[in-house]
Parts: sequence; structure tokens; C-alpha cells
Amino acid sequence: MKVSSYQDFEKAEIQALYTRTFTDSENREEGELIAQLVLNIMNETDEDDIYGFVAAENEQPIGCIFFTRLSFDSSVVAFLLSPVAVHTSYQGKGIGQTLINYGLEQLKTNAVGLAFTYGDPNYYSQVGFQQISEELIQAPFNLSQPQGWLCQNLNGGAIEAQPGRSRCVKAFADPDIW
Ligand SMILES: CC(C)(COP(=O)(O)OP(=O)(O)OC[C@H]1O[C@@H](n2cnc3c(N)ncnc32)[C@H](O)[C@@H]1OP(=O)(O)O)[C@@H](O)C(=O)NCCC(=O)NCCS
Repeated sequence: MKVSSYQDFEKAEIQALYTRTFTDSENREEGELIAQLVLNIMNETDEDDIYGFVAAENEQPIGCIFFTRLSFDSSVVAFLLSPVAVHTSYQGKGIGQTLINYGLEQLKTNAVGLAFTYGDPNYYSQVGFQQISEELIQAPFNLSQPQGWLCQNLNGGAIEAQPGRSRCVKAFADPDIW
């Protein structure tokens, strides 16, 4: 398996991967919703505000992950991990964790201080995330599942409170996502 930054020519395959994976894990509607979100992420985000990585086997994408910028009034540099998908036939083999850890290393190399995600604490705690409160750091919108608001300090220290509400990229600027 090879992990590398996603390329423009892979967009259609990446979209298909998300449709398929989330259709299998949830349903067709969710598959199409996430695939549209991913298309928006790829098409509407400034290149300075996005990292995307693909895991490929025999040149075919079998996993994918995106990180997009979260901005604060402070000088902290932060990115949001979302969404990640591993093709249904390849799940449970460590590919998800490999992709997440690869992405976090790339963020660290690029002087990113905080990584956030919004998901299952049991899964993401295995790759260094911890639950944080909205009082400590506010998400871009009110959270319907506050227990899924997760963060890690990529420099290894404590997570410090940040003033004000964070701002996400355009693709995530929809209260229904949160
Ligand atoms: C979630 C997902 C990315 C994980 O990728 P993966 O390659 O299957 O996971 P890995 O093999 O790296 O990790 C496996 C570990 O995570 C655990 N795990 C996997 N999914 C989990 C979940 N939803 N909740 C809790 N633990 C989970 C496994 O039990 C395993 O733990 P173990 O090593 O202690 O046995 C993948 O299953 C997927 O694409 N699922 C459907 C889409 C989705 O839910 N994406 C995440 C939300 S954006």
C-alpha cells in the first residue's frame, strides 16, 4: 500500500470511494451526502487550507483522508480531520490508522499545532485525540454530538483554551454537518 497526497485527476475515484464506503456503512443517502461534501472540499478549498492523502493498492484508491483549516482569533495553526474512509473490503487492517498517523505527521512537519476531529471518541482516541469541551474550544457551529468534539496538541503539550468561535472552510460551513 502506498500513501501520497491526492492529485486532481483522482477526484472522481475519491468521490466514488466515499460514496461506496458510506453507503455500505450507513446508507445510499449518507454515501451521496459525504461524497458531495468531499467534492466541495476538493473544489472549494484554497490550496493552503487543505491536505488530502490517498492510500492506494495497485494504483487504486482504497482509503482517503482530508484535513482542512480551522482558524482562530489567536495565532494557533489548526486543522480539522474529516472525513476519512477506507474501502469496505479493506477495513480493520490498520489502513485507517495508517492514514490518520501519516496525515498528522504531515501536519506536524508543516508546523500545525492543533488537530481536531468530530467523530467516535473510541476510534480516534487510538490515534491521540481526546475529548474536549465546547467551553475550552468552540467548534464552528453548535454541536449536535458534543461528545464527539476531539482534539490533540501535535506538539505534545496540554490543549489550551482558545478565544472565540473557530472558523471552518466553506465546505463545512453548514450547521447541519455539525
Ligand atoms: C472508520 C474507518 C476509517 C476505520 O478504518 P479502518 O482501516 O477500518 O480502521 P483500522 O483498521 O485502522 O483501525 C482498526 C481499529 O479501530 C477500531 N475501529 C474501527 N472503527 C471503529 C469505530 N467506528 N468505533 C470504534 N472503533 C473502531 C477497530 O476495532 C480496531 O481496533 P483494534 O486495532 O484495537 O482492534 C473505516 O472503518 C471506515 O471507512 N468506515 C466507514 C466510514 C466512517 O465511518 N468514517 C469515519 C467517520 S468520518
